[in-house]
Amino acid sequence: MKEVQSYIEKNKDRFRDELVEFLKIPSVSADPSHNDETLRAAEFVRDKILDAGADLARVESTAGHPIVYGEKIVGADAPTVLIYGHYDVQPPDPLELWTSPPFEPVIKETKIHPDGAIFARGACDDKGQVFMHIKAFEAMQATGKLKCNIKFMIEGEEEVGSSNLGPYMRENKEKLKADVILVSDTAIIANDTPSISVGLRGLSYVQVKVTGPNRDLHSGVYGGAVGNPINVLADMISSLMDENKRITIPGFYDDVMELEEEERNKIAQIPFDKQAYMDDLDIDDVQGEKGYSTIERTSIRPTLDVNGIWGGYTGEGSKTVLPSEAFAKISMRLVPNQNSDKITELFKNHFISIAPDSVKVEVEPHHGGEPVLLPTDSEEYQAAHRAMETTFGKAPIPERGGGSIPIVALFEDILGLKTILMGFGLDSDSIHSPNEHFGLFNFYKGIETIPQFFQNYYESKNKS
Ligand code: BES
Ligand code: MN
Ligand code: MN
Repeated sequence: MKEVQSYIEKNKDRFRDELVEFLKIPSVSADPSHNDETLRAAEFVRDKILDAGADLARVESTAGHPIVYGEKIVGADAPTVLIYGHYDVQPPDPLELWTSPPFEPVIKETKIHPDGAIFARGACDDKGQVFMHIKAFEAMQATGKLKCNIKFMIEGEEEVGSSNLGPYMRENKEKLKADVILVSDTAIIANDTPSISVGLRGLSYVQVKVTGPNRDLHSGVYGGAVGNPINVLADMISSLMDENKRITIPGFYDDVMELEEEERNKIAQIPFDKQAYMDDLDIDDVQGEKGYSTIERTSIRPTLDVNGIWGGYTGEGSKTVLPSEAFAKISMRLVPNQNSDKITELFKNHFISIAPDSVKVEVEPHHGGEPVLLPTDSEEYQAAHRAMETTFGKAPIPERGGGSIPIVALFEDILGLKTILMGFGLDSDSIHSPNEHFGLFNFYKGIETIPQFFQNYYESKNKS
């Protein structure tokens, strides 16, 4: 591994400069006006995989944004690691809150990242982390240390629900044959506290529309007598949780996996500084479901959040109006063994049932995804565990994450493969938010740890 290490050391600055080029491409999958750039990002990934020494790399079209597939086969009997990641990014809005433009990367030091962090949309989620894999591959290949076959499947629609990746995998099962899937699209606890994600939450997402009178009304002439859809929507939303912040939808918790005392004790031991957490967010208190800690609330418990709410007059000054319509986008994060279709259905029935007769309600389901829970006793988990232990000098903590990567549940269903979620971001890296960044420490630590995983995995496969 020394050769790999010194190759990385020698090429560090170039790796960083290439990532900067990647981050300049505004591959916003949600925005069709960026389709050319999204394609350009796919081509960039393909070219870098080829440059790193792959046998082949292609941009493969789908009904949506293309998937980049690449491979290097070192031997028919060698174990195969399939790398998954995404080159698409979230929209950068609101632009005015960025301290530097989202697609003009700059490197700045921060309190948490004294060695500097790259600020750009996608720096951490997920271009920076995808790029670690390409550079780790380059380093293994260049030093003759690649002993596992490697396949890349880098998609451009993760941030919009991955709807074309499932069909792609079904059509390409043979090509995608592997022993394990390795993903870096999650976070570690802190730069001195490595962790491996062993769970992800699922997602149910709906848009609701509340309609009152057939037109906007004068709020003086009609106000007080006619149901105001925004008032009604606010009432309905607030009734979705009780005073203990438990979700009131009948049946919502029926399938929730409850943890044993022992598992909760382990969670209680995960280092967590509540004051630092609050300081980072400029809040004076946290809140959430009674009886659960902050870490539990963001990992093993389901949630319900309004992501957006609108209606009526929101322009300058005031307009006295009793609006005809009100809308909200509502997400529910799910935990094992909840099912997104079932929860969406429960939400829909309940939401319609609590609507007063003064309004009509429509519920429109959006894309969802299933939660996952991954084993820690597998040889692939152990390979990841030991890799991080080597490079961080400290054993990683298995931790269930709060975010969602819906495609991970399908990896198991379609390809029959387990996933290792070995991410290197930090929760404070502002993913999906203005001023997203990725620490250079984290970027290089990833590039260093991945070859270690390959080595450990190869060794454990050759033992068994
Ligand atoms: N990489 C994130 C998910 C993530 C972030 C998992 C941090 C664990 C820790 C991913 O790109 C993402 O944003 N997923 C979406 C899913 C949605 C678009 C279907 C999410 O979690 O909101
Ligand atoms: Mn991501
Ligand atoms: Mn994301």
